[in-house]
Amino acid sequence: MTALRPHAEEFYAEELAALAADDDRSRPPGWRLSPQAVVTYLLGDGGKITPKYVGSRRLMEVAVATLATDRALLLLGVPGTAKTWVSEHLAAAISGDSTLLVQGTAGTPEEAIRYGWNYARLLAEGPSPAALVPSPVLRAMETGAIARVEELTRVPSDVQDALITILSEKTLPVPELNTEVQAQRGFNVIATANDRDRGVNELSSALRRRFNTVVLPVPATFDEELDIVTRRVAQLGRSLDLPETTTALDEIRRVVTVFRELRSGQTDDARTKLKSPTGTMSTAEAISVVTNGMALAAHFGDGVLRAGDVASGIVGSVIKDPVSDRVVWREYLETVVRERPGWADFYRAARDA
Ligand SMILES: Nc1ncnc2c1ncn2[C@@H]1O[C@H](COP(=O)(O)OP(=O)(O)OP(=O)(O)O)[C@@H](O)[C@H]1O
Ligand SMILES: [Mg+2]
Repeated sequence: MTALRPHAEEFYAEELAALAADDDRSRPPGWRLSPQAVVTYLLGDGGKITPKYVGSRRLMEVAVATLATDRALLLLGVPGTAKTWVSEHLAAAISGDSTLLVQGTAGTPEEAIRYGWNYARLLAEGPSPAALVPSPVLRAMETGAIARVEELTRVPSDVQDALITILSEKTLPVPELNTEVQAQRGFNVIATANDRDRGVNELSSALRRRFNTVVLPVPATFDEELDIVTRRVAQLGRSLDLPETTTALDEIRRVVTVFRELRSGQTDDARTKLKSPTGTMSTAEAISVVTNGMALAAHFGDGVLRAGDVASGIVGSVIKDPVSDRVVWREYLETVVRERPGWADFYRAARDA
């Protein structure tokens, strides 16, 4: 059997091993690679090491340097800016394990950050180390690894506060066993949070002080975004074993153009102002529009990605609010798409969708 989605440390095991073999810089205690090699793993080296994150090197340097200090890392940004993706790859490169993960939700209990109990054993034997069920954070402390907390701002504030002692004292008291777990060197935390969720459960200032924040931006230029989408679509197509489709760069360009124009509220040439839809029009959605289009083209079309294969996906990404977004889309179609040379096929497909 093969996993549908292997963890980064498995999927990129060869790259990580090659980096470790050539890495003669000093490694922080508990790290598998030097900070320099971690950044190379993230951004690629133009050769064997493929880029995972496409964007500013400096941002990744700041993120990696933070993890080598006693402060934790908070990756902040609008949806689809690769916060989760970067966090997984950082944990894989630094600790060789990206699985020590807490998914933050409004219902995340304190046990998910501290520890819980195996009640059968607790009742039979009383509190004992064997009855204790460690959280991913506790396991990361014990093994000196990176723990990941996804969507930290969705976690109720009293549960968030459980992280304060862990981050400032690097220890977790277990009063039931009259003991504590001390974090081993190499332990740290990467949290992600969504800009749009801000205010749901704002981080308390006490917790915020224990994090360095790195804001991941939406791709700055058209070419950068095109590069991200093309790369990820190729990777996803391979891992889904989609039949070979002709790489339709023109169609991908079109998807990226539509996403960027609607997101920024103006056409590429900056001549026409546009209304923006309520959704985020994120790069991540652009990737899934193209991937879905490729599946349509491969299984139901002639293997060539065409306007009709991406049109309904685009419409679905734009129209999140059935009333106001429909107006935005209609206007964009009639004033921009219709007039644009070479876009007649897309105009027709989008009208039909
Ligand atoms: N700058 C980028 N470099 C490489 N991949 C990117 C970049 N921006 C977005 N992606 C891709 O977008 C997809 C979604 O990213 P991810 O799930 O990490 O977003 P997120 O910021 O965690 O979003 P959310 O706030 O919705 O959780 C991933 O497949 C990732 O590869
Ligand atoms: Mg995420």
